[in-house]
Amino acid sequence: MRHIVISILFLSVFSVCIFSQNKEIIEVRTNDLTMIFSALKNEKVSFQYWGDKINDTSAFLKKRFKRQPDSNQDTDPQLFPAYGGRYYLNPALRLTHSDGVLTTELVFAGTEKKVMDENRIETIIHLKDLFYPVLVDVRFVAYQKENIICQSVVVTNAGKKNFSVENVASTYIPLHAQSYYLTHFHGTWAAEMQMKEEKLTPGVKVIESKKEVRATQSESPSFLLSLNGPAQENSGEIYAGSLAWSGNFALSFEFDESGLLNILGGINPFASTYHLQPNQKLETPEMVLTYSSKGKGQITRNYHDWSRKYALAHGAKIRPIILNSWEGAYFNFDEKTLTDMMDNAAKFGIEMFVLDDGWFGNNYPRNGDNAGLGDWQVNLKKLPHGIGYLADHAVAKGLKFGIWIEPEMVNPESDLAKKHPEWVVKSGKRDILPMRNQWLLDLSNPKVQDFVFNTFDQVVSMSPNISYIKWDANRHVDNVGSDYLSKENQTHFWYDYVKGLYSVYERIRAKYPDIEIQLCSSGGGRLDFGALKYHDEFWASDNTNPLNRLFIQYGSNTFFPAIATAAHVSTSPNHQTGQMLPLKFRFDVAMTGRLGMELQPKDIVGEDYEFAKNAIIDYKMIRPIVQFGDLYRLISPYDENGWSSLMYVSKDKKQAAFFAFSLKYHDRTTFFENKLNGLDPGKNYKITELNIKSGQRTFNGTEKTYTGDYLMKVGIGLNLGNPFESTVLLVKED
Ligand code: GLA
Repeated sequence: MRHIVISILFLSVFSVCIFSQNKEIIEVRTNDLTMIFSALKNEKVSFQYWGDKINDTSAFLKKRFKRQPDSNQDTDPQLFPAYGGRYYLNPALRLTHSDGVLTTELVFAGTEKKVMDENRIETIIHLKDLFYPVLVDVRFVAYQKENIICQSVVVTNAGKKNFSVENVASTYIPLHAQSYYLTHFHGTWAAEMQMKEEKLTPGVKVIESKKEVRATQSESPSFLLSLNGPAQENSGEIYAGSLAWSGNFALSFEFDESGLLNILGGINPFASTYHLQPNQKLETPEMVLTYSSKGKGQITRNYHDWSRKYALAHGAKIRPIILNSWEGAYFNFDEKTLTDMMDNAAKFGIEMFVLDDGWFGNNYPRNGDNAGLGDWQVNLKKLPHGIGYLADHAVAKGLKFGIWIEPEMVNPESDLAKKHPEWVVKSGKRDILPMRNQWLLDLSNPKVQDFVFNTFDQVVSMSPNISYIKWDANRHVDNVGSDYLSKENQTHFWYDYVKGLYSVYERIRAKYPDIEIQLCSSGGGRLDFGALKYHDEFWASDNTNPLNRLFIQYGSNTFFPAIATAAHVSTSPNHQTGQMLPLKFRFDVAMTGRLGMELQPKDIVGEDYEFAKNAIIDYKMIRPIVQFGDLYRLISPYDENGWSSLMYVSKDKKQAAFFAFSLKYHDRTTFFENKLNGLDPGKNYKITELNIKSGQRTFNGTEKTYTGDYLMKVGIGLNLGNPFESTVLLVKED
């Protein structure tokens, strides 16, 4: 290992020392990827290259990135273009200086490189304005093995007077190709992360959120950008980014007159001017970047590997199978309802019980969504023996115990709202508009941060047997405003709220490093790497209808790994669907993520009971493959053929779990074109069908042995002719 570190060090030191007429080549490298910039002291830094690894970079000393028709120094793509000089596109940085000047021009002021550990190298490129005391550091952390580069920016006020940051992006990427195809993820409550792909035309396409909380409910700050054709699974050049920020964001794709695509991503500049005092710094969130010349499958695997290691709590630990009380009991329960649920859950082999909403509030009991939020004391009428009694019951049954909170929120009908009206987000004298009957607490206020931390602390302290928290956030920001911030700094709200949230997460993780936490915001309303890194998993959607989940999980899992994807089997029909969908289909879809159940377990009886119990045994068998393996998407649910399939392959390629789903009627009953992927062509694999319901097999080659080569080139046929039929196979080295 040491010699690797030394050779990386040598390479990086060598790389920043290639000079020609004082021109410097700056390289940011991972094992397979390279970013190249060229710089000359006191000149703008040029963005030269971002893509597959290039060993010899000397040609970049001479190369100029040509931008037609006005190709000159000022319009060469820059590392980080500020508004000023000849830069007339959307800028990565826009400042208003203390004297009112609106322009900024950033030039090269030096570079630093540091080997952080055997997998991470940090590169900082220092920029400055020649006339104003502004320093801008563009920072890259390159994760060697995962081929991920995180980019962020720090703006420093090095002068004696305030200036205003009007906008500052986390990344700027110029691309040059014949055509550009953007894949972004759009949706709404119960339909998050719906994939859209479109060919970009000249002009600007912006994907953004101004909701702050539940920022990803309708748009996501994660994107794919494919060159010269729509994104393919296993071929083609694709750039990808995912902003690690849990508030307002903006991604802009500006196709300019020279045919260049200018990508900007970062915090949304909307109403968010930030006043920087002398010596103060403003740090942007990280944009998590990757690239593949072999299609989007590799992009996904890069994100998953990186996330399990760096942007997920306990990414190397198997997740338990959960029964969550919400859809089985909603607000209507007493102690016996819950202990019965636990007793029945234990019979299924479930490993954790999570008590959802409805357990708190005394003066304003939480018997519906109209009261109680903010009053985090157990409702003694409903649960006279307290939470400890329930948690102990769970543990006695061999289950872990978890509990729901929504600490950023308050119902007007609560003790908290009466006591601290100044903590509520509000816009001057205007009425505070409720959403789901609730208001938002102002996390830009340190006192509110303390309250939220203390809420978590007190709830966890109710029993030593609480090992999991579901953290929810069920509204977003409208009529923005803070009683805490000064009138000049109201525009700081957006940034300070998220920073306040992160400082609470930091305190929680410092005190409770082992507790499992679920990230939930009415489902997938806060799905970004900035929040996920403090959590163990996310609730992908309140929609548990497996047909819808296939699409929601397809979108979410493009970036975020299966181990973190809470996917529950619920009753069918339920609040999301009028249509009855087979139990096997519900299980098979949920088993592609972190399996759980969200129903009354006592309602599963007879043959269904036997099936569900066996499915849980089967899931435990394939769980390490699903949770730690490499995802290979085979057939997309968006394909018009009406089938969908995917597989997870263990890192040593000895085992794989394969899933296939039929989404509609087919006029023939077998599909042949299901070539597997990711296996070792030289290995022999035995295939066993799992989750068989009522003796009905969908694969007639079960228990037979095939070579990996055969499975990937010829494939397998499955008997999935009807809608909502599905297959789960274990593919194991023989
Ligand atoms: C949100 C969550 C649900 C459930 C309810 C409880 O909608 O997404 O899973 O916890 O709140 O009120």
